[in-house]
Amino acid sequence: MGNTKKKNGFASGIGFILASAGSAVGLGNLCQFPYKTSVNGGAAFVFVYILCVLVLGSTAMIAEIYIGRRAQANTVSSLKKINPKIGWIGLIVLFIPFLIICYYSVLGGWTLRSTINSFQAVEQANNMNSLGSFTSNPYEPIIYTAIFIVFAAVIIMAGVKEGIEKASKVLMPMLFIILLILVVYCLFLGEGVSRGLDFYLNPRFDELGFEGVIAAMGQAFFSLSLGMGIMISYGSYTGKEIKLGRSVALISLFDTLVALFAGLMIFSAIGALSPGDFENTQGVMLIYSILPKVFNNMGEIGKTVSFLFFAMVSIAAVTSVMSLMEVVAQFVIQKFKIVRKKAILIISAICLIISIPISWSVGGAFNGKLMFGEYDILTFIDEMTNTVLMPIGALGACVALGWLMAKPTKKADIFSPKYLYKQLSKDGLKLGSFGNFFSVMVKYVTPIIIISLEVLGIMGNVNKYGNSYWLIVGSAYALLLACVVLYFVFFKNKDCGNNADELVIGNSVVQEK
Ligand code: PHE
Repeated sequence: MGNTKKKNGFASGIGFILASAGSAVGLGNLCQFPYKTSVNGGAAFVFVYILCVLVLGSTAMIAEIYIGRRAQANTVSSLKKINPKIGWIGLIVLFIPFLIICYYSVLGGWTLRSTINSFQAVEQANNMNSLGSFTSNPYEPIIYTAIFIVFAAVIIMAGVKEGIEKASKVLMPMLFIILLILVVYCLFLGEGVSRGLDFYLNPRFDELGFEGVIAAMGQAFFSLSLGMGIMISYGSYTGKEIKLGRSVALISLFDTLVALFAGLMIFSAIGALSPGDFENTQGVMLIYSILPKVFNNMGEIGKTVSFLFFAMVSIAAVTSVMSLMEVVAQFVIQKFKIVRKKAILIISAICLIISIPISWSVGGAFNGKLMFGEYDILTFIDEMTNTVLMPIGALGACVALGWLMAKPTKKADIFSPKYLYKQLSKDGLKLGSFGNFFSVMVKYVTPIIIISLEVLGIMGNVNKYGNSYWLIVGSAYALLLACVVLYFVFFKNKDCGNNADELVIGNSVVQEK
């Protein structure tokens, strides 16, 4: 029947693009990007960031989607299919999202609570306190975290096409429309707006520095959800009908626009209504404590603005956690032949349990005693995953495709990007005139830059946090080693399944053949 009937996967190209954009757009865009831009030289940072997205991000994203698409399977089977010796990379990239779900959901819970609280907050002129008493309460944040996890879980329980794709097709346009409304509203808040925009974007190349460049690279990878198996997993649910280059361009464009617009909105509002707070905009507190104050200063309409804003952040966070959970679920379903609902129930329960101490730690419950050394657990895991593990995941994908797939017989071919592209295009990766450039990038440039990102990122943080940072680095590598050992003991010689398996496992969410 020419066009192979839809299997277990996305029904349309646009569905895939929106789902991937849903994964990409998250707290990274709505919170981290704006403040990182403001402290690293404004438009100078944006310029470097866009360059990173165009050159590095797109290379890694194409590599990941392609690795998944050719295998039509979970991350472990996908990497095994590239080369039977490297299935362990697949287990590493699967473990990173698992860790991220646990802390991202805590913040997701805070976001939900801020959404619901929007209509009550105005009397409490200092919203910071209200957030403080909420987060330091041992139970309440956990209930919201649980609700948040349940949201994501219920959607992906319905499957890729019926759950992730359908939800993304509604939620992502909704998110974008809310964002546009907020941007327009905030840009017209009065004279302070220009001060805010100046703080946010005015190009200051002297402030960018080397650290700023590293920050831009890290931000680009995190924001595009790279190095964590997500694009491998989502890519596996697509077929040849999807134009890789165009999809990646659209996902990156959407992700970057949302980040830029979020900054426009946030800093116009702060500039107009709370300019004294420019200094305090670092970290997640930007959206959980500074912005609520700004919304309060808007008067009655602030309640609606707050509601819209946090609803938008909730959407962004939920679609991101959906993607994180899907990577893990896909493997559990296919490897252990468990029906989707059950697999997701198990994963959600484990993640919720792990998120409890994280929530206590970051919220300061129990007198702030729950720490890893001098770090709260959220910062600890966040640093482990984003600074140490994520570059390794992204490197794994690039090296796998660039060096370990094609098997050249002549020595000269081993190093030749042209040869690589010839092999890749025979294998079905069609990138037109961009092909040879992609080969050079995936084989040489991106890996070298990612390794530098790892080393410089770690060194930079050791400088910033002191020697205790080695505890984070050490733990991350220990976990990595544990994944490798786990792989060789349990999964090396076993078939780890593929997408088609889900169609025959049980009768839960079986989609049409
Ligand atoms: N890309 C998401 C963001 O910008 C975060 C995320 C990272 C989501 C990794 C999934 C995987 O917030």
